[in-house]
Amino acid sequence: MHVEIRNVIKHYDSGAGRVVKALQDVSLSVEKAEFVCLLGPSGCGKSTLLKLIAGIETTAQGRILVDGRAVEAPSTERGFIFQDYALFPWLKVGENIRFGLEMKRMNKRQQNEIVEHYLRLLGLEQVVHLYPKELSGGMSQRVAIARALCLRPQLLLLDEPFAALDAILRQKLQEEMVRLWSKEKITFILVTHDVEEAIYLADRIIVMTPGPGRIKEIVPVPMPRPRTRTSLDFVQLRDRLFHLLQGEESWERRVEEERRGALQPILVK
Ligand SMILES: Nc1ncnc2c1ncn2[C@@H]1O[C@H](COP(=O)(O)OP(=O)(O)OP(=O)(O)O)[C@@H](O)[C@H]1O
Ligand SMILES: [Mg+2]
Repeated sequence: MHVEIRNVIKHYDSGAGRVVKALQDVSLSVEKAEFVCLLGPSGCGKSTLLKLIAGIETTAQGRILVDGRAVEAPSTERGFIFQDYALFPWLKVGENIRFGLEMKRMNKRQQNEIVEHYLRLLGLEQVVHLYPKELSGGMSQRVAIARALCLRPQLLLLDEPFAALDAILRQKLQEEMVRLWSKEKITFILVTHDVEEAIYLADRIIVMTPGPGRIKEIVPVPMPRPRTRTSLDFVQLRDRLFHLLQGEESWERRVEEERRGALQPILVK
């Protein structure tokens, strides 16, 4: 799916007449089957932009078009996984994943095949009969990913989908995302704080700045896939992105936290 974001401004009314300027004049065009990462410090409006594309937030100014049509409400063509990945607490893991397929009135045999495929893919076979409250944060996140993928969306909107996962699983799912993307030609828009994750995944990295949120720079990633995290091109681009993001106070704090854990994947490799 092609996504066109034109001059979008988003203000939130946070009560007592206080207005938060979340996005200021953001324009961006994402091609069909492109993989785009949104990168930027806390509060720069990444989640807001994703919610606008998903149709769960609206804006009075600017336009968002998906395949030429204005986004007015959520749709199953646009799968999304948000930071607070709300699972249905009254449904077991398997039922959570199956939920959307039931809604589509797919027959039971097909449902079983798809659910089993994604349970295997995300290593969730052992927890299929558990309830969300019995899962760790990382497992809940994997269930949310499986639930979104099994609907075969044309556009996938992912808000820090791997943030709660350990380094090894994070890397495994990043590789899986690239495989899925090259096989299915889904358009991906993924939010991350992790510079290496963005370079590993994206065709283009959209670097944002806060207060109010704007696009600072769009950085293409011309390396062929699968990418090697220790290659010279990779490391040079990583340095360039860190440089671009320098000076963003909240960013630097987050990066420091990330780097303590995020350096592990390189060592593991
Ligand atoms: N529902 C809301 N009501 C009021 N203000 C909001 C609301 N949602 C977001 N904001 C504000 O809008 C700005 C952008 O928030 P957003 O969640 O989009 O940022 P973000 O880049 O996703 O941050 P993070 O990296 O911490 O997830 C922030 O200042 C935030 O406090
Ligand atoms: Mg966010």
